[in-house]
Amino acid sequence: MAFKHLIALQDISKEDILDILNLAKTFKEIILKPVKKVPTLKGKTVLNIFYEPSTRTRTSFELAAKRLSADVLNVAVSTSSVVKGETLIDTLRTIEAMQIDYVVIRHSISGVPLFLSKNIKSSIINAGDGMHEHPTQGLLDIFTIMEKKKKIEGLKVAIVGDIAHSRVARSNIWGLIKLGAKIRVVGPSTLIPKDIEKLGVEVFTDLKQGLKDVDVINILRIQLERQKKNLFPTIREYAMLFGINTEKLKYAKPDCMVMHPGPMNRGIEISPNVADGEKSVIEEQVTNGVAVRMAVLYLMGGGKKDEVIN
Ligand code: CP
Repeated sequence: MAFKHLIALQDISKEDILDILNLAKTFKEIILKPVKKVPTLKGKTVLNIFYEPSTRTRTSFELAAKRLSADVLNVAVSTSSVVKGETLIDTLRTIEAMQIDYVVIRHSISGVPLFLSKNIKSSIINAGDGMHEHPTQGLLDIFTIMEKKKKIEGLKVAIVGDIAHSRVARSNIWGLIKLGAKIRVVGPSTLIPKDIEKLGVEVFTDLKQGLKDVDVINILRIQLERQKKNLFPTIREYAMLFGINTEKLKYAKPDCMVMHPGPMNRGIEISPNVADGEKSVIEEQVTNGVAVRMAVLYLMGGGKKDEVIN
């Protein structure tokens, strides 16, 4: 792989994305076996440091690292010296002095992973920075689509909901467009960033039109914590107009797949029937997250894509 850090899918090539996805297939076979561990990253240390809450990403990176036999350090920011006022860079340099190899970081401020990549020695993996990118979520989403649909080129993918505040949307857009998908963003105009068409996506503010003939619906969480003012009248109205239920699913292709990065607001952007229904791949996304993160850690650690690893 031609890079030391994974900050954004905007920055990496189609070939690198395909290498990660191909290797993730092998790692998925490994994690479905009774013995799920390989010795590949023995002796390496991965730091997980999350300045924002996480269930999936943090645990998934921990499992991915452990299944590659790396040592894992999890720093709980709320009980660390961050609460005494220690700066981000002092915190990272302190832990780095204990000889770590990778930093997996989530932060509310866009640009923190890039800043760290220029100021500390370890490999940095962005686990979500503000409203910028969440590259491993983008990769696992693409992997899941590829697994189900056997291709990406030419697929119509609708990303629905709070596009404005979504790092997941940006990583999906960059990655999927590089692999030839046709992307639509669908939501109320107040939740769609100005000029997003420049990324090569089509914009729809009418759900029925936006979902017409799509192969994939990726439903985003309404991120109330990032909305500084009311961007739609009420949650109820949002759910009525843009929440995906079984009726609205009929606007899409009959064999469309339904994704959500989680955590879900059931009954708001997605109805329980859809979340738990036959078109949903939400739990498969979570399983695939471990395999994809194993592939990322392995390749960033200098592993060769063609080497036998099991
Ligand atoms: N999809 C995602 O990033 O979930 P978490 O916030 O639980 O990590």
